[in-house]
This record gives sequence, C-alpha cells and structure tokens, in this order.
Amino acid sequence: MGKIRVMSVFGTRPEAIKMAPLVKELRSREEIESICCVTAQHREMLDSVMEVFELTADRDLDIMSPRQTLSAITTKCINGMDDVIEDIKPDLILVHGDTTTTFAGALSAFYHKVRVGHVEAGLRTYDKYSPYPEEMNRKLVTAIADLYFCPTVNNRRNLEAEGIRDNIFITGNTVIDAIHTTVKADYQFTTPILNELDYENRKIVLVTCHRRENYGEPMREIFTALRTLAEKHEDVELVYPVHLSPVVQEAAQTYLGGMERIHLIEPLSANEMHNLMARCYMVMTDSGGLQEEAPSLGKPVLVLRKETERPEAVEAGTVKLCGVKYDDVLRMAEELVTDRAAYDAMAHAVNPYGDGHACKRIADAILWFYGKGDRPADYLAR
Ligand code: UD1
Ligand code: UDP
Repeated sequence: MGKIRVMSVFGTRPEAIKMAPLVKELRSREEIESICCVTAQHREMLDSVMEVFELTADRDLDIMSPRQTLSAITTKCINGMDDVIEDIKPDLILVHGDTTTTFAGALSAFYHKVRVGHVEAGLRTYDKYSPYPEEMNRKLVTAIADLYFCPTVNNRRNLEAEGIRDNIFITGNTVIDAIHTTVKADYQFTTPILNELDYENRKIVLVTCHRRENYGEPMREIFTALRTLAEKHEDVELVYPVHLSPVVQEAAQTYLGGMERIHLIEPLSANEMHNLMARCYMVMTDSGGLQEEAPSLGKPVLVLRKETERPEAVEAGTVKLCGVKYDDVLRMAEELVTDRAAYDAMAHAVNPYGDGHACKRIADAILWFYGKGDRPADYLAR
C-alpha cells in the first residue's frame, strides 16, 4: 500500500477550528496524504478560521445559502461529495462532531463504501430534540463510523453502552490543541473595542448564543435576562459577537440593541475570540466549543441550555447549567457578579477535555489501523 489517503471534511466554524490542527498533523506524516474538503455550510465564518490557521481547502462545495434549511444543507453536501469522492478516492474520510455537514459527509462516505473516522465521537444528551439536530447527527454518524476518536472516557462509555466495541480511542479534544496555538499573554487585539475594554475594573461577560432549539421564546428570555443584568450592575459589561444567522441577528438586535454596556459585535476570528476568553470575567453561552475552551482558561461558564453533552466540566465545578428561563439566567449570572466566593469556587482551570496532543493521538491511531505503527495510549484526564 502507498500513502494512506485521508480526506478531512468539514463545513462550519467549530468543525474548522477543531479540524485545523488535525489537518496540519496529518500533513506532517509521511505515510499519509492529507486532503481537505470543505462544504462551506458556513462561508465567512469558515473562511475566517481557514485564514487564522493558514489552511487552504483542496475542494470547496460552497453550499451556503441564507436561512438554509437542514434538508438543503444535507442534499447539497451529498450531491457535492459524490464527485469529490469519485475523484479523490480516499481510503478514509474524517468528519467532526455533530453538524449537518458531519452527518452528510459520513453518509456520502458510506454510499461510496469509504471508511469513516469520527472525531469528537461519543457525546450524548439522550434527548432527540436537544441539541437539535446535533444529537441525532451524532447517533447517525456513530452507526456509520469505523474509527471513533473520543475526547473523554465518558464519551467512550457512551459508545460502549450502545454496543460499539472496536476502534475506540480516547484522544482528548482537538480544540485544546487549537487553543494552545492561539492564546498568548501579550496578544494585541485587532478589533478596536476589545483593546478599549477595562478588564481590570469591569466584569466583562463574554456571551454567545446561536442554537436552533433556542430560537424564539428561549432566546427572548435569555436576552431579556442579559439586558436586566447589564442594567442592574454598573460594573458589568457584555460582549456578544453575534452569529451571522439572520434569526440570531434579529433577536440580538431586538432585545439587546442600543444598550451602552452591551457590545453586539461581528463574529470574532478564532484568535481574537480565544484571547478575549482568556481575559474576560466569565462566559455565558449555548455553544459546545466554548464549554470546552473556557474551563481550560479558568473562566466560569453558565450554559444557556437545559442539558449538556459535556458533563465533565460540570463535574469539575467550572461549568453550570442555567437553563433558558429569564429568572434562572438572571439569578445565576447575578450570583457570579456579586458573590466573590461563588465566583472563586468556579474560577479555576481544569482540563478534562485534553492536553493539547489529541491530533497526534488521532494520526497515530490512523497509522495503527492501517498497520503502520503502534496503537496510541488513551488520554486519561487527571
Ligand atoms: C451550525 C450547526 C450547529 C453549530 C453551528 C456553529 C447544523 C444544522 N448546525 O448552525 O450544529 O453549532 O453551525 O456555529 O449543522 N451564516 C452566514 N455566514 C456564515 C455562517 C452562517 O451568513 O459564515 C448564516 C446563513 O444565513 C445560514 C445561517 O447563518 O443560512 C445558518 O447557518 P447554519 O449552518 O444552517 O446553522 P448554524 O446555526 O450556523
Ligand atoms: N468562536 C469564534 N468567534 C466567535 C464565536 C465563537 O471563533 O465569534 C469560536 C469559539 O471559540 C469556538 C467555536 O467558535 O472555538 C465554537 O463555535 P460555535 O459556538 O459557533 O459552535 P458550537 O461549538 O456550539 O458548535
């Protein structure tokens, strides 16, 4: 056998941030030919990540359209992938996480009888509609995949409980590999407002909110609570880089627009975002990735959701679920901005999600699978 032809497929911002260090690791291995195919389910937000990590795609399906539906994303990805797979003839396709690109990428691979490696495998809430459609995407990809790269022991247990026995590797999360390259003590922001904020004397709360299951009433309640928080506490300042989804943009402007201490800004590049996270007071988010990054930077996280597939940092005490109701969001946020002991109890760095070497383990596992090296030791968080 010549080089192992490994094609990484991704399309959204979080997949790109978490796959970028892996694509680079694969490129550094002489036994592997690494190909990068983007669906561009996200356009601007994907391109920003590609620029930060200095990656160029070998193939670009360019599928994004405004207010795209799940069916449109799925069908465009599958149709586009047909030609790419026929042309490239990969030995292995890597997909990441739980987006519609992830599911469609895995399904396309299956249609062409190409093996699938699932990066960030084994996360579960066991609620079909929350997060929606991500929980179902993960389960469907589990059924298709041949290799499973789990961030944590807990993720492996979830797969074992579903009868998966072979080719499960515990690697840590590649997002920690990414954050090791972006966060720097002397980082200078290029976004003017981020250089103007008073990180010493103000409580800078970093906010993100974009999930489909939070559209409508949950977003109204969350945003109204955030507004009250800023109105009541003069030492609090909110920074919210608003996702480009028009649904989210409209809701954010409606409920949070025009307030002096609430900064609604454009999405940040990954290096701006990670360094803002390193300097802020705390994080309020419904994002998956932020729940993994902020604990490693010692920042308390309030999760604007009813559940989480990432219980490890909750168990470690740095992340709390606060739901999507006005009273709960406001009460839990106020506790952290007024009660120093409560804040200190949450503000310590924990690393249940990785040690920065996940990509190396994944590349080693691929080589082992193809008979070209030893099986890597599992990552066991301390
Ligand atoms: C998607 C993923 C979600 C992930 C999120 C990360 C699905 C179904 N959802 O949700 O799991 O948490 O990405 O951010 O896979 N848009 C732009 N430019 C961009 C990106 C988005 O204009 O660069 C707008 C478009 O109008 C697009 C809309 O946002 O139609 C929604 O994008 P979409 O990928 O469908 O959903 P997300 O909410 O981003
Ligand atoms: N992120 C970013 N700029 C932003 C908001 C988020 O670079 O303005 C990063 C964030 O640090 C994390 C990833 O994007 O690495 C998370 O993406 P998102 O919240 O969109 O998706 P999720 O993780 O919920 O799927």
